[in-house]
Amino acid sequence: MKIGILVGSTRPGRLGSAVGAWVKEHADQRSDDGVEYELIELADFDLPLLSEPTVPGAANRDYQRPETIAWGKKVDSVDAFVWVSPEYNHGVSAALKNAFDVLYPEWNHKAIAFVSYGADGGVRAVEQWRCIVANAMMVDVRAQVALQLFEEWGESGFTPHDRRADELGTVFDQLVQMAKVLEPLRS
Ligand SMILES: Cc1cc2nc3c(=O)[nH]c(=O)nc-3n(C[C@H](O)[C@H](O)[C@H](O)COP(=O)(O)O)c2cc1C
Repeated sequence: MKIGILVGSTRPGRLGSAVGAWVKEHADQRSDDGVEYELIELADFDLPLLSEPTVPGAANRDYQRPETIAWGKKVDSVDAFVWVSPEYNHGVSAALKNAFDVLYPEWNHKAIAFVSYGADGGVRAVEQWRCIVANAMMVDVRAQVALQLFEEWGESGFTPHDRRADELGTVFDQLVQMAKVLEPLRS
C-alpha cells in the first residue's frame, strides 16, 4: 500500500512544505505498517486551471494536456492520501480544489485524512473538503491534525506542539485501516 502526503499549497514561500516534511518524517518512523509513504508537492505539477475539453468524469483518463496526464498518473499511483491543507479566506485552497477537479476516477474509493493549519487550525477548510471529496467517493477519516499558526510557528519556524505526534499517529492508524477496507472497491 502506498500513501501520498500531498502539500496542497502552491504559494511561493508556502508553510505547507515544512508541514508535509514533518508528516513524512513521522510516517517514515512507522516501519511496521507495511506502507510506503510519498511526499507530493502539488506545485511541482504546475497544473493549469481546468483546461481539458472533456469533463473528468467522462474522460476515462484520456487527457490531452501533459500536466493533467502526469497529475492523473501520480494520483493513480497511491492508495490513500494525507492532504496538507492551508485555509484561504475561510475556505479551501483554490489550487488544490483545481487539482481535485481536473481528475475524477483517480480519486475514487481512496481513503483521505487531513493535516491542516491556519489561525484556527484550518478547520473551516477541512470541513469544506470533507463534503467535496465525498463527491468522488473518497472516504475521510475522523482524526485530523489542526496546527495553530500563531502558536506553532515562531522565529525558529515550524515547532509543533508535543501532542501533535500522537495526533498524527491516530491519523495514520485510521487512514491505513480505512484504505485496507476500501481495497476491494479499488481493485
Ligand atoms: C489569500 C489568503 C487567504 C488567507 N485566509 C486565511 C483564512 O481564512 N484563515 C486562516 O487561518 N489563514 C488564512 N490565511 C493565512 C494562511 O493561513 C497563511 O498564510 C499560511 O501560511 C498559508 O499556507 P501556505 O503558506 O502553505 O500557503 C490566508 C492566506 C492567504 C494567502
